[in-house]
Amino acid sequence: MLGSSMSGDTKVTIYYGPLSWLQEQLGSEKHKYLLDIITEQDAARRRITHAVEGQTLPADEEVERRPKRLVAESADYASVQEHAIMNFVGLIRSINPKQLVLHNPPAHIHLQLAREFSIEVKRYAYPAVTRDTLVRFRDGFAGHLVGQSAVKESLLAAMYPLTTDRRTTPVVLMFYGPSGVGKTESAQFLNELLGGTLLRKQFSMFHNDKFASYLFGGTHSEDSLARDLLDRESGVILIDEFDKANPVFHSAFYQLFDGGVFEDKNYTVEVGPSLIICTSNYGTEDAIRQALGDALYSRFDALIEFKALTKDEIRDVIERLVDDRFSNLAPDEQARLTPNALKTILYPLADKSGNVRKLGKLVDEVISLLLVRALLSEV
Ligand SMILES: Nc1ncnc2c1ncn2[C@@H]1O[C@H](COP(=O)(O)OP(=O)(O)O)[C@@H](O)[C@H]1O
Ligand SMILES: [Mg+2]
Repeated sequence: MLGSSMSGDTKVTIYYGPLSWLQEQLGSEKHKYLLDIITEQDAARRRITHAVEGQTLPADEEVERRPKRLVAESADYASVQEHAIMNFVGLIRSINPKQLVLHNPPAHIHLQLAREFSIEVKRYAYPAVTRDTLVRFRDGFAGHLVGQSAVKESLLAAMYPLTTDRRTTPVVLMFYGPSGVGKTESAQFLNELLGGTLLRKQFSMFHNDKFASYLFGGTHSEDSLARDLLDRESGVILIDEFDKANPVFHSAFYQLFDGGVFEDKNYTVEVGPSLIICTSNYGTEDAIRQALGDALYSRFDALIEFKALTKDEIRDVIERLVDDRFSNLAPDEQARLTPNALKTILYPLADKSGNVRKLGKLVDEVISLLLVRALLSEV
């Protein structure tokens, strides 16, 4: 090769979006991975060291040849040594590919390259809320959830701005209310309408020390919300159990909720006009304001209350659950049960719980109990 001064003609393309989309964009044309080349370079360096110790130097064509297209995917930067990240331009010059494709790179890699190369940036078009989404939401809601009709109306109104071109920032919603009444289910249903695997983060799953690096960025090998946001496919961003986050982390969300930009130590993300849904078990708007403070509270576009189900609604849920479970049984099992008998057993038990998650388990238990009794009494 002709030395680094000739390497300025590398064509650099940066893709921001999900991996599945990148792979579609790359197509079937052959490419090499940055990580493989780094491994080859390391091996070549080791061989040269041996050669210096008395053997002859092998002619290694594989390392010498100029790669046509060099690719680094989002997860790859974690395996690149910190010093190579700091001098990414030097690394690329030493490889000198004709084309360089970077997927969701850390911000300072983008900046470094922008000073030395001309860069083309491509961004994934995320599924957007349209009038059709609203229609399908309105018409499909009752099929997913019993009750919560006030939720349906407020959600439609809250999503409306996303259907207009004026909206360039996310709509940020807080779903609140007791457990097991449909908060997560509603978010999932919305995302189904839009498509793409839902980005769902449960804040109860984090310990404080991990959470700090997750939100503010750590080393390149650590998980971070910024990278999860970059890698996501979905138009909905679900932050489940937002109330479980320590208040010291609240300020991390100001910029994201305001203008749709999230920055940590390594990455910058623009989420655009997406739908950010936080869920919590707060009981009232006042409780939310108290717990989150005005600065964060005021950044929600709408607070949507999920109510405990009424007795009639619980009966309705039981009917749906029984019919659903019954239809999934084997024919010989179905022959041992009648749905109506099941429902009659279950109605009074359900007075105790309006938590549909628990009701589902209760229905499963009763079905198993009846089936095992029938099975054993046949002998
Ligand atoms: N109102 C409802 N009607 C029918 N099913 C429901 C309802 N609320 C919850 N479920 C079901 O109960 C389970 C738990 O609901 P989920 O939405 O996760 O509760 P949470 O409000 O705690 O987020 C899910 O399987 C969901 O489909
Ligand atoms: Mg939930």
